[in-house]
Amino acid sequence: MGNIQVQFILNNEKISVKVSPGLTLLEFLRTEMGLTGAKDSCGGEGECGACTVILNGEAVNSCLVLIGQVDGHSVTTIEGLSVRGELHPVQKAFIEVGAIQCGFCTPGAVLASKALLDHVPDPDDDDIREALSGNMCRCTGYTKMVEAVHIAARELNNGK
Ligand code: FES
Ligand code: FES
Repeated sequence: MGNIQVQFILNNEKISVKVSPGLTLLEFLRTEMGLTGAKDSCGGEGECGACTVILNGEAVNSCLVLIGQVDGHSVTTIEGLSVRGELHPVQKAFIEVGAIQCGFCTPGAVLASKALLDHVPDPDDDDIREALSGNMCRCTGYTKMVEAVHIAARELNNGK
């Protein structure tokens, strides 16, 4: 099958690319764009969440999205989360409380947390654990992540 033309917003920039339709969004980001924050920890089976990106405001597993499906849409990866070099409050809070150990799950968990806070500005523990339920972390036990999301929520709500 021939390549297809795909246009979408990637980290706030409009891009237009010719790509193989069999490529997943995860493969595209890593191999064509050099954006390696999204990772594959389960063989692209949709089970680990390490490949999480935000697609039109929702956290999705980019290994399960074909590149053609993002045509006309908006994708944010961990590389696009900081603004003018300043980390997003969720990133800062993850660092502050030590919610990062090996770091393999961190980009996905941060993006899932950000998507949650965009929809639910003041989540409770259950909301946070539910939002992170697709992001497998072998290291932290999630408690620190939950704490970090509460801190980020306070920070974001104070700024309003
Ligand atoms: Fe594991 Fe996508 S690589 S869910
Ligand atoms: Fe190691 Fe989450 S910090 S898998």
